[in-house]
Amino acid sequence: MRHLVSTADLGRDDALLILDTAEELARVSGRAVKKLPTLRGRTVVNLFFEDSTRTKTSFEVAEKRLSADVINFSAKGSSVSKGESLKDTALTLQAMGADAVVIRHHASGAPARLAQSDWLHGSVINAGDGTHEHPTQALLDAFTMRRHLNPGSGKDLAGRRVAIVGDVLHSRVARSNVHLLTTLGAEVTFVAPPTLLPIGIENWPCQVSYDLDAVLPKTDALMMLRVQRERMNAAFFPTEREYSRRYGMDGIRMAQLPEHAIVMHPGPMVRGMEITAEVADSPRCTAVEQVANGVSVRMAVLYLLLGGAVFADGAADSSRT
Ligand code: CP
Repeated sequence: MRHLVSTADLGRDDALLILDTAEELARVSGRAVKKLPTLRGRTVVNLFFEDSTRTKTSFEVAEKRLSADVINFSAKGSSVSKGESLKDTALTLQAMGADAVVIRHHASGAPARLAQSDWLHGSVINAGDGTHEHPTQALLDAFTMRRHLNPGSGKDLAGRRVAIVGDVLHSRVARSNVHLLTTLGAEVTFVAPPTLLPIGIENWPCQVSYDLDAVLPKTDALMMLRVQRERMNAAFFPTEREYSRRYGMDGIRMAQLPEHAIVMHPGPMVRGMEITAEVADSPRCTAVEQVANGVSVRMAVLYLLLGGAVFADGAADSSRT
């Protein structure tokens, strides 16, 4: 595989290889010597047309831990603001010798367009495109679930029940997760008001519920989504109070979850709306851990796409450390 645009492109073995590699890299880079020489001499460009805190920073940390040369490119302050096209931006990066481009773009399909073009010769990694996909977020979510729900084993998520709650309509995280989680054998339920579900959801490999309280006792991992007001027409949206009352996660609802269940959030969180501070700051909430796991998962994706060492017996070649 040369690019990572969608989790729909990942078979079960691909997904497990990435997750197992991330585990191995977390183990290796968690040692005293954090930096690995794997991508020495390779250039990775972080091309961000939309704001980001977690994804941009963690890709940069991952690239630097693998010793890549890193170029950070934001649309703000670049010639994009003068009207330069995606094609000309890509050709410029290619001329500078980019081996991989990590792209976040407000337009759904922009990473796929780059991957299909001959503007770039290297790998394209989707860091979130419009309302379409965010594959490395789904991979780090699966990595986090596996650690909590399958401790000590490197298996898939067969039979695990995942509820994804909130603004599914605008969520690239939900789309990437439903593909990946079902590939890994999990059962996914979306819980949302009807106005925040996409048309055609009945054809997705998931269940749908409008009743969060009914779903909670049957959930192993609860993923709260941010309400994306910036992508929303006001007419679509219930009042903030109504939303919190029906779909917000608070301490009373947390008590309805099975004891082993975790509460996840991809961030950024809107505290007080989709999640209370009591839940966000509780030991059951994995939001901060998900960020840390994102570094290992992004290291694994870069390592595998950019041709890191061949894997023998399923483990990263740690002799290169
Ligand atoms: N989860 C996520 O994509 O966060 P950022 O927008 O901060 O990158």
